[in-house]
Amino acid sequence: MTPKILVTQRIPEPAYPLLEAVGEVDANMEEGRIWSAEELLQRAPDHEYMLCLVTDTIDARLLEACAPRLKLVANMAVGYNNIDVATAKRLGITVTNTPEVLSDTTADLAFGLLLATARRMGEAERYLRAGKFTGWEPLLLCGTDVHGATLGILGAGRIGKAMARRASGFDMKIVYYNRHRLPYEEEQRYALTYASLDEVLQQADFLSIHTPYTQETYHLIGARELALMKHEAMLINTARGPIVDEKALVYALQQGTIAAAGLDVFEHEPAVEPELLTLENVVLLPHIASASLKTRTRMATMASENIVAAAKGQQPPNVVNL
Ligand code: DGY
Repeated sequence: MTPKILVTQRIPEPAYPLLEAVGEVDANMEEGRIWSAEELLQRAPDHEYMLCLVTDTIDARLLEACAPRLKLVANMAVGYNNIDVATAKRLGITVTNTPEVLSDTTADLAFGLLLATARRMGEAERYLRAGKFTGWEPLLLCGTDVHGATLGILGAGRIGKAMARRASGFDMKIVYYNRHRLPYEEEQRYALTYASLDEVLQQADFLSIHTPYTQETYHLIGARELALMKHEAMLINTARGPIVDEKALVYALQQGTIAAAGLDVFEHEPAVEPELLTLENVVLLPHIASASLKTRTRMATMASENIVAAAKGQQPPNVVNL
């Protein structure tokens, strides 16, 4: 029997023929439309495979409704906190992700966001567009130097290391905190100095978050951690919103506990804490860290390749719940 494949959102074109070669594809082709939990519940159950995205909540209720027919959920993302992986495992449903292909693209954006935050680019652009630029001034929109500053990296996985490579090009000193300390050779290769979480918070001029979002990293950065940071420090988050206590961050930015933030992700995405929108010392982006067309296409084909492998009876390459 031909397997049925559900694709929950519109994805880059090259992925569809890969899927069509191994099954009957049932795809949401509406640009920008995300099915609600109820719609997913109605549509998913009679499929063997599902290709989904970080904005789809694949919880126990959905997985239980889809088992035992559903064999594999392929997330088109490296993070998979949107999927109840433990329930999937209990039900014998394989979960896959798309590691590596987005590391450099994500680090490009994270470093760009760091630069934009340090040099007040968002504020400067708003100023110019508002017609306020009347000429060069010695003190106009002066920001902070990035070169020579200390970068604190939380989470030295693939993206954290890619961030470190970029920081080295700016002569930054790099301190990092990771659950497991990296081997000496890797620390040398990426010019990383290991420190405790509190030491990284205290030393960093820029703190960039690259940890996965798990129960352990929920509100990893809250009021206590922000208070440990330098008043001139800036926080960059391209990982997941709930890693930072967004209300505590707003308060810290308002009080001058830290100087600024660059955020690509939000605690209650797509909602943004309204007060963040009123602050000049934040740069806000709509979760676009991996959004180059080349990378998003590679993510879509990689997610599809996991389905193709499973449909051919092979081991999918990127299983996260073996
Ligand atoms: C990921 O892959 O986890 C990203 O956040 C989605 O672009």
